[in-house]
Amino acid sequence: MERKSIMILMASLILFLASCGGVSDRPVGSGGWLTGEVNEKFETVTEHLGGFGKAMWEVDYRFQELWWAGNDGNWKYAGHQIEEMEEALELGLERRPERAASAQQFMTKAIPDVEEAIGERDPEMFERRIDMMMNTCNSCHALEDMEFLTVKPPLQRRSTIR
Ligand code: HEC
Repeated sequence: MERKSIMILMASLILFLASCGGVSDRPVGSGGWLTGEVNEKFETVTEHLGGFGKAMWEVDYRFQELWWAGNDGNWKYAGHQIEEMEEALELGLERRPERAASAQQFMTKAIPDVEEAIGERDPEMFERRIDMMMNTCNSCHALEDMEFLTVKPPLQRRSTIR
């Protein structure tokens, strides 16, 4: 290739890379609220996404729905809720891997035990196993020095699903 063509190629490459930089630094989001270079934007987004506390909001909701689903004998809904709860916990632990050791009993015992009761469609078994699951919520809170977070059976329904 001749020198001139190489120069043109290099110049276009530099221009292309510079324009990429421009795009990544551009404010985005409604009204351009998300600013900074790409990594700063990711940092801001992870702040908004939250850590384990956000996962727990969802887990707490799903635990209550699971409780009522089992009580109603709505086994398909119970199966749906436990699956979603597991997913929420897994994502929470991906964001906060330092919590994984305390969650081990919950992930490897409490969840499969309740899943088994759902599979069997056995109300008594479900009642025993969901009680054990609740105790495992509390033992994880204790392991994480948050023993003041005491999970108890739900008193009223939060959703419209029966
Ligand atoms: C890692 C083990 C672990 C397991 C298992 C666990 N939790 Fe938590 N939970 C935590 C930690 C840690 C926090 C505090 C998170 C934070 O705010 O950073 C928390 C916070 C909470 C909160 C308070 C959320 C808030 O800030 O308003 C609720 C409610 C909760 N958990 C319910 C449950 C329920 C219900 C279960 C069982 C179905 C459960 N948790 C299982 C560790 C766990």
